[in-house]
Parts: sequence; C-alpha cells; structure tokens
Amino acid sequence: MIICSCFVVSDKDIRAAVEDGARDFREIRKTLKCSTNCGACYPHAREYFDQCLRDIGVPMPDRKYAAVNDDADL
Ligand code: FES
Repeated sequence: MIICSCFVVSDKDIRAAVEDGARDFREIRKTLKCSTNCGACYPHAREYFDQCLRDIGVPMPDRKYAAVNDDADL
C-alpha cells in the first residue's frame, strides 16, 4: 500500500527501513523522502513507522498525529 503518494513510498518501504535500523522518523524522511513535500501522508506514515518499531519491540508512546509535521528539523 502506498503511504506517500508524492514519493511513492509504501508501507513495505517504511518497514524495510525500520528493519534496516531506522529508529527516528527523520531517517525515514531523509532516506525515503516520505513526508517531505505536501505532508499529507505524515500522520499515517508516522503512525505506521511507530507501529513498525513496536512490532520489533521498541517501546513507543501512544500518540495522535496532527496533520502538521513536527519533524521539520532535517
Ligand atoms: S503524500 Fe507524502 S509528502 Fe505528499
């Protein structure tokens, strides 16, 4: 499933990045460019990224993501 339509980033791409060691969403933005254009994908991309971390045992707080991108400090 495509999560970021601007850069054609799929859920599999995000999961693969986590499996390759990404532990901060900024890494996803840098390597995949996900959420770096219009930002519409950010809430879902960030939620999915956190879920991928939880799936491999990295504890993550429950958060609700606003449409505003809070990771803009690349
Ligand atoms: S849909 Fe991801 S930056 Fe536009």
